Amino acid sequence: MRHFLSLNELTKDEILYLVDLACRLKSEVKRGFFFPYLKHKALGLIFTKASTRTRVSFEVGINQLGGYSLYLSKNDLQLGRGETIEDTAKVLSRYLDLIVIRTYTQSEVEEFAKYSSIPVINGLTDDYHPTQIIADFQTIFEEKGKLKDLKIAYIGDGNNVAATLLVGASKLGLDIAVATPKGYEIKKEVVDFAKDEAKRSGSNLIFTDNPKEAVKDADVVYTDTWVSMGQEEEKEKRIKDFEGYQVTQELMKLAKEDAIFLHCLPAYRGFEVTPEVIDGPQSKVFDEAENRLHAHKAIMVFVCLGRI
Ligand code: CP
Ligand code: NVA
Repeated sequence: MRHFLSLNELTKDEILYLVDLACRLKSEVKRGFFFPYLKHKALGLIFTKASTRTRVSFEVGINQLGGYSLYLSKNDLQLGRGETIEDTAKVLSRYLDLIVIRTYTQSEVEEFAKYSSIPVINGLTDDYHPTQIIADFQTIFEEKGKLKDLKIAYIGDGNNVAATLLVGASKLGLDIAVATPKGYEIKKEVVDFAKDEAKRSGSNLIFTDNPKEAVKDADVVYTDTWVSMGQEEEKEKRIKDFEGYQVTQELMKLAKEDAIFLHCLPAYRGFEVTPEVIDGPQSKVFDEAENRLHAHKAIMVFVCLGRI
């Protein structure tokens, strides 16, 4: 058993294995074949933030694998009334077989994992969104037929999604250019970690405040909301600060002709992306969203059973 808290702990080989397994599980489902790899396993989902894709795909995914799920909003648990993470983790480990946690700080997920004797999966924190990025790599692989010799451009906020994408790309040896406004860069410790990985993998990492420079010759253009969960009070300021960082058709033209557009969703049309781009032919956002289901199944099988 192992935890899945960020991509930092995974090797290149393990990331590629998860993408491959996600593709295999997807093709099994498309053929109407549901092998009960996790029969009778109980998945708990402890969520302190909203979710459409992550929650639904994990719940449907564990059912397809022969298990079942319990959605546990923090306020319904004694955790919301002050029971410690340590006690909660120890108790839930006696009932459940694996847990997905979506919360604010990465340290909460880490602490939970420390006291949990069952696998803990990070379903998003302020720092990282690793389940998302496995689905994104699966989507890129489906579209491009490879996970090498590609350039990703990330435009916008240096948030949890950007940080995880950077780490993942630097592990896989993909080139990545990140364009963020001043003051919204990816955290220095994550950038340093990625630079170190890039030395081994051969990734070319570019950090700029110029979206045009970032998207030049990109195979994949990626953006995310300018206002992440928990930042609602900063909304007005952020909208001003992110002026010029919208992914428009004009910007897409600077990428490769066959570039795809990705967004983890939820999207805010007219802010980080125009409707023409996200609803246009280059956009693969709904395949990307679907792949959350297949990628999450792969992650659950991997943390419970290892390689199959
Ligand atoms: N992309 C993503 O994690 O979506 P949800 O917030 O709806 O789960
Ligand atoms: N960066 C966004 C991602 C939502 C899936 C957030 O944290 O709200």
